[in-house]
Amino acid sequence: MEIISSISELRATLKRPASIAFVPTMGNLHAGHLKLVEIAKQHAKCVVVSIFVNPLQFGPHEDLANYPRTLEEDCWKLQAAGANIVFTPSVEEMYPTVSSDGLILGQTMMIRPPPIANELCGASRPGHFDGVATVVAKLFNIVQPDFAVFGKKDFQQLFIIRELVKQFNQPIEIIAGDTVREASGLAMSSRNGYLTEEQKVQAAQLHKMLDNIVLRVRNGIADLAVLADAASLALQQLGWEVEYVSIRSQAALIPATAQDKELVVLGAAKLGSTRLIDNIDFLR
Ligand code: PAF
Repeated sequence: MEIISSISELRATLKRPASIAFVPTMGNLHAGHLKLVEIAKQHAKCVVVSIFVNPLQFGPHEDLANYPRTLEEDCWKLQAAGANIVFTPSVEEMYPTVSSDGLILGQTMMIRPPPIANELCGASRPGHFDGVATVVAKLFNIVQPDFAVFGKKDFQQLFIIRELVKQFNQPIEIIAGDTVREASGLAMSSRNGYLTEEQKVQAAQLHKMLDNIVLRVRNGIADLAVLADAASLALQQLGWEVEYVSIRSQAALIPATAQDKELVVLGAAKLGSTRLIDNIDFLR
């Protein structure tokens, strides 16, 4: 496995026409990321994984400075998982006009995703998906993969990246990897590391609440907004600070109607100071 931090060296190393599958990450890898690498290996001979904590997708009061950085351990895990190349650019390499703490210093070109990016997670994280779309577009231009693998845990991100590729005519097949969960049902996330042992037990409530919504919808409950509000209230009563619980159509990510069959229930809430997200896609 090669570890490369410069764009020009990466470009020189990636030998075409071997097919390339790409897994973008921000590091602090867990079993969910390694599952994405496993999926990538099934699609292409060469698997490239990027590790880059993207300052442009963090808001001013978010956890950019504290975001867990575990590069050495991540590289060992990726080697064992069979990745071929790890791309670990610096902020300067990726964005010559952005400081490492995310300050935009000069004329920086950003991608503005469609308005859906201002809903759900985007409502409480203004500009987050501009940062995600911008870094992913740049990484796609740098790596030029045939396939790119993203986790379904970030369902809205996956939706926006599919739109990015479609609307910017990028010849990349986007593959979605299922969310990997702890035995309790808690979705694996780098941010779970912020939770105390007691909070980790409590954190499984978010998934249980979403699971319960799926069950009720499948049992024929039709008023989806009432169902989502009830789950939100129940979480608040359990001590969560709820951002949203919403049942949406998978195809457009807009609030689901009675006609929609392919649904996704999404939730975001804070346990203490840790913000967690989860979702379940399902058919009714
Ligand atoms: O999902 C993530 O880890 C990040 O949002 C991504 C896609 C690597 C972009 O920074």
